[in-house]
Order: sequence, then C-alpha cells, then structure tokens
Amino acid sequence: MKKNDLLALGAAATATAAALAGVKKKNADFCPFCEAKRLLNKLTLTQGVTQRYDNGAALTPPMGWSSWNLFASRINEDLIKEIAAAIEQSGLAAAGYRYVNIDDCWQSSERDADGRLQSDKATFPHGIRALADSVNAMGLKLGLYSSNGTKTCEDYPASLRHEAMDADTIASWGVEYFKYDFCHNVPISEKAPRVRQIELSAPGEAAAAIFTPDDVALKGKARILTDDKDGVRWITGLSSRGGSFSINVEAPEDGDRVLTLIVAKASDAERFLRVTVNGKDEYHLYAAQGRAPFRGERRIQLTVRLQAGMNTVVFDNPVGSRMDSAALQYKLMGRELKRAAKDLAARTGQQEKPIVFSICEWGFNRPWKWGAEAGNLWRTTGDIKPVWPSILAIYEATVRLSKYAGVGGWNDPDMLECGNGKLTLEENRSHFSLWCMMAAPLILGNDVRKFVKPDGTPNSDDPLLQLLTNESLIAIDQDALGVPCRRVHAGLRDILVKPLTGGRAAVCVFNKTKAPATLTLDFKKLSDDAFPALPQKAAYQIRDAWSGDTFSADQTNVSVAGHGVRVFVVE
Ligand code: GLA
Repeated sequence: MKKNDLLALGAAATATAAALAGVKKKNADFCPFCEAKRLLNKLTLTQGVTQRYDNGAALTPPMGWSSWNLFASRINEDLIKEIAAAIEQSGLAAAGYRYVNIDDCWQSSERDADGRLQSDKATFPHGIRALADSVNAMGLKLGLYSSNGTKTCEDYPASLRHEAMDADTIASWGVEYFKYDFCHNVPISEKAPRVRQIELSAPGEAAAAIFTPDDVALKGKARILTDDKDGVRWITGLSSRGGSFSINVEAPEDGDRVLTLIVAKASDAERFLRVTVNGKDEYHLYAAQGRAPFRGERRIQLTVRLQAGMNTVVFDNPVGSRMDSAALQYKLMGRELKRAAKDLAARTGQQEKPIVFSICEWGFNRPWKWGAEAGNLWRTTGDIKPVWPSILAIYEATVRLSKYAGVGGWNDPDMLECGNGKLTLEENRSHFSLWCMMAAPLILGNDVRKFVKPDGTPNSDDPLLQLLTNESLIAIDQDALGVPCRRVHAGLRDILVKPLTGGRAAVCVFNKTKAPATLTLDFKKLSDDAFPALPQKAAYQIRDAWSGDTFSADQTNVSVAGHGVRVFVVE
C-alpha cells in the first residue's frame, strides 16, 4: 500500500468516526452495534465456493511459458513462434511445458467495428487465430490475457462488461489458457435499484407479461414502499445482500426473452441487480442512474434464456463487500469461458477445447476463498521479481494457503523467474523446488531460445535447462493427488511435506539463510502426522530428487546450502 493510500485510509477512518459521532448526537435511533455490523460486513465474503470450477482442464498444475516476466510489452508474433519452437526443440515440451501464453500488450488499442478485441495490427498482423494454429502445429497450446477492468494494466482494451463477447472471441481463436488481470477494475455497487415493474416480452414483440410489486414473492429485507407524494409502490430493501424478490414465468418453449425493469432514478451512482433464472443461469444488470429532470424512473433491459414450462427468476444484490464483488466478477468470466468453449464445439462439431482460467487478482480479495469455483488457478500475491526477497516473500504468503488448492484449482504464486535477473543457480533450484512442493503452476518466464543450439538440438549441458526439466521435481509438482505441501516446521529452515500418490511423500528442507546448515530429518516422526499419510515403517526408501541418490533409512542428517533446498521422495 502506498503512503498516499494509507493517508487516505486514515482520513477516511477519521471522517467515519466524525460522521458516526455526528449521527449519534442527532439521531436517537443510532445503533452502534448495527453500525459495527455494517462495517464488519464490508470485510466479509459471502461468495465462497459452493462447487468447484470443473472445466476438465488443469487437473494437475498447468505448465508452460509466459511473455511477461522477461519481454513485457516487447512482443510480436515472430517472437511467440520462436519461443514455441524453442519449447519444442529444447525438450521443455516433452518435460510437460505445453502452454505458450501471451501476456499483456498483444491487443490493438481499439476494438473492431463489431466491438470485438483484435490483436495489434503491426506486431500481430496475422491475428491470434493464425498464431494459435502455428503453435498448435508444434503440439503446443496458446494462452492469452485480458483484465477484469475497463483497461488492462498496460491500458489496452479489457473485458469487464464484455465477458460473453470476449470469451466467444478467444474461444473462436483456439485459445486454451486465459489469464485475467485486475487492473482498472470497477467494483460492483452494493446498492440495488428500487423496482416498480417487471415486463417480459419475446424478442420483436411487445410486453406479454407485466409484474407489479403485488405479483412478486419477497424475501429477507425486501419490502414494498409506497411513495408519499404520488402513491407509486416500489420494491426496495435489496441492497447489500439485504433481500430478494422472485417471479414465476411460464414459457411456451425454450428461448430468449427480453426482461425490462422499471427502476427509480435515485442518485447519480450506478446500481446493481443479479438476475438468476431457475437457480443456475446468472445475469448481471447494471442500472445506470442519474437524477431525472422529467421522470424519476427509467427502463433497464436484459435478455435472458427461459426454459419451456415454469421458470423462477430471482432478483437480488449479493454484494456486501469488495471481496463479494471480485468473486462475482471472476465467477461470471469463468462461466462465460466454459459456455464459450461448449458453444464453439457445438457450432463447429469439433472437440471441445477447455480454456484454463487463470485468475490474476494479486490476492487482494482472498481469491483462495472463492477461486476454486471461479477458475483453475488464482494468484496469491502481487507480481514476482527476479530477486531472492521477492521469491521468499511469495513463498511465505503462499505456503500457508495449502488447504485451498487441489485438483483443477491451484494457488498461483506467480510465474517462474528462473533464468531471469541475478538469481544464483542454487536460488533458481530453490525457487523451482518450492513451486513444485506447493503444487504451483510452472510457467517459465525466461528466454527459452537460449536452450537450443544453432543446429536446433537441445543445449543439454545448460544447468538451467537441466534444472527446469528435472523429472523427479516435475513429478512432485504434477502428482495426480494434487495436494500442495504443508509446512511442518517453520523457522530459518523450513520443512515441507507433500503427500504423493502410492502412499509416498515428498519432503523438502529449505534453508532461508545465506549460511549452509545441517539438520536431521526424522521420517518416522513424519509418519506420526496424519497429513502426509506415510505408512509406519522401520526404514523408508529415500530418493534424493535432485541428485538421484537412493538410500534406506528412518532418519538422516541433511546438509543444505545457503538459500538452498534438499528434496527427498520417501516411500
Ligand atoms: C499485472 C500482472 C502481471 C502482468 C502485468 C501485465 O501486473 O500481475 O503478471 O500480467 O499485469 O500488464
């Protein structure tokens, strides 16, 4: 948080206290308990995980490469093709790295005449579809990027309120990985509009059914308010998870219907209603406001899909905090991506290509609490940098979140910086090992063209290439059990344990200090802990994952280099 933000927060707190004190003097009904509850509400999340995302992708942590860490805005289609070729030629693809992800700066600054995203006409002149075809021809998959905001972090067109169209566009290009950033986000309003009438019509026809406040079922704090001046009756009390109302609508057949709500123009701020059809299809309705010079109401429209027979349509505003807002927005994009992939397959008759949905919200709104329903992975922190303190800090923040991740939904401690900056080989090895222990996505961020000799064969002597293709470590990351490590000992040296398939476990000793260290690993003691589910044995078969050495023991003395790790597979 910047100094200015802190000052602003401080000022806001003082203003709130002053305002509360003012209210207290004037208002005999002031309820400090209710105020405290209201403020507490703002810090809580109600949009948790009710079901996992389940798009059939990222059943193990995704592996690939991204353009951001090294190339940032200096990208073009030739670079992406060269990188894809290098991934294939170096043996990285065979080791599991399959996604070639283009990060920010691929877009033209303008959407096309139909409002669709398009690639930069000079740096990606043949478009993303052609690039995806080239990448696919090398046996690899293409990834793309946008932001859950009005613009991306580098100020290109982004996807907030264009979710359905942009999901269709990227699916139609054959994109199979989508990173969704958080720059220029506009939180959803906690306020709901007052509603006086709901109309339903078939497209191209006048309203066929009209519902007044007397025709709806009210729930929670939702109620009917009669205007003193003109006697108009409004449905109100829907703001901030307060209440809901519902209508039942008969439809002769499956199909689209236009839903019109007549809402009050109460203030300048935009208001929000969620519309849920039959408990599953969710639509977002933004009621732009603005004081009315002539009429105090306006018509807000939305097209919804009804099923033949009776349909229940519920209206509410479930946003009580910024966390709720982020969760709702990311879940919406996640649903649109699933729908777009399915629709494309149905339209073309081709096999469905699920799109890995990568939530890049920097951990601001506790995405580990809702990410598993919204998508396949969620960033746990701000951006990684190729320096040791950054890697250490991100590890510390993420290792605690183990319990939230699992098959199809992963904590994302950000892309790898191995090979970037001035990290030593030992630090690169630790960075990679910790990410594997945490079951993190392994998305390379370096110039992998260096791993290929001029004759097109892999530069197998390159210690970094050897490190990044280490089979034992990759197998730990990709283990089908999908359980990230837990820290069983914390200090200057941490001990991490990650359960693996077949009753095995990976054990990692991590030395955070510069000085080398020696400590004892007691495998028997580890088996006392229920978490790794290691069977009790007199002696265990141990394999050093980095050196490949094997031995049998119930405990062992381990020496670890400064900023280094030792990783063992125990069975
Ligand atoms: C944010 C993200 C980064 C990267 C840039 C692109 O900072 O966290 O990973 O995508 O935006 O602009």
